[in-house]
Amino acid sequence: MTVKKGKFITVEGGEGAGKSSNLAFIRDLLEQSGIEVVFTREPGGTALGEDIRDLLLGHKHTGMARDTELLLMFAARAEHLARIILPALNAGKWVLCDRFTDASYAYQGGGRGIDMSRIGALETWVQQGLKPDLTLLLDLPIETGLDRAGQRSEPDRFEVEQRAFFERVRATYLDIAQAETQRVHIVDAAVPLTQVQQQIEQVIGQFIQENSNA
Ligand code: TMP
Repeated sequence: MTVKKGKFITVEGGEGAGKSSNLAFIRDLLEQSGIEVVFTREPGGTALGEDIRDLLLGHKHTGMARDTELLLMFAARAEHLARIILPALNAGKWVLCDRFTDASYAYQGGGRGIDMSRIGALETWVQQGLKPDLTLLLDLPIETGLDRAGQRSEPDRFEVEQRAFFERVRATYLDIAQAETQRVHIVDAAVPLTQVQQQIEQVIGQFIQENSNA
């Protein structure tokens, strides 16, 4: 894989963690520092990837086998890497992505119970060593998140899952954060938005400082 020049930042979190508004906040922080940012999401980010997203999140294929779900996530990811993420990083742009492979470990591994080593094999194949440089995990108790998410529109194919599923998702995210303290920063997303943003500003500010001359 070609040498990476830009920085790759991902944002993860459970239901109702305030991902959308916090992503917009991070994007503003980066752009205010003069960084050119490609803002994208998974599953999705390309025309093909967005079609795969519709298959994954819609209710047309309710009984989808869990391996199919995992493979579709990585199919969308392969397309996203080839067409958007790698070209941007190689051009020196920063990429800010709403979810990435940590979500596959959390949802398909923790949530659905797929063996983590299978996910690892796909990660190695599809990413060939590429990992985010920085990941913000917006963490909050399941109850609080579901209360917030419940106030929004029609639930998708993941949002209809039971509480125990989301507990496993959260536990897996926290395991990853504990195993990769350099890359993954936990943000307490249960506090009011201004306090969440203060935490984000600190992490992003430091990351920009460390990488502005890189
Ligand atoms: P969201 O980005 O709007 O939160 O919705 C994407 C959904 O897809 C979310 O429920 C998490 C799920 N997902 C996975 O299960 N595995 C993955 O690898 C990714 C990227 C997302």
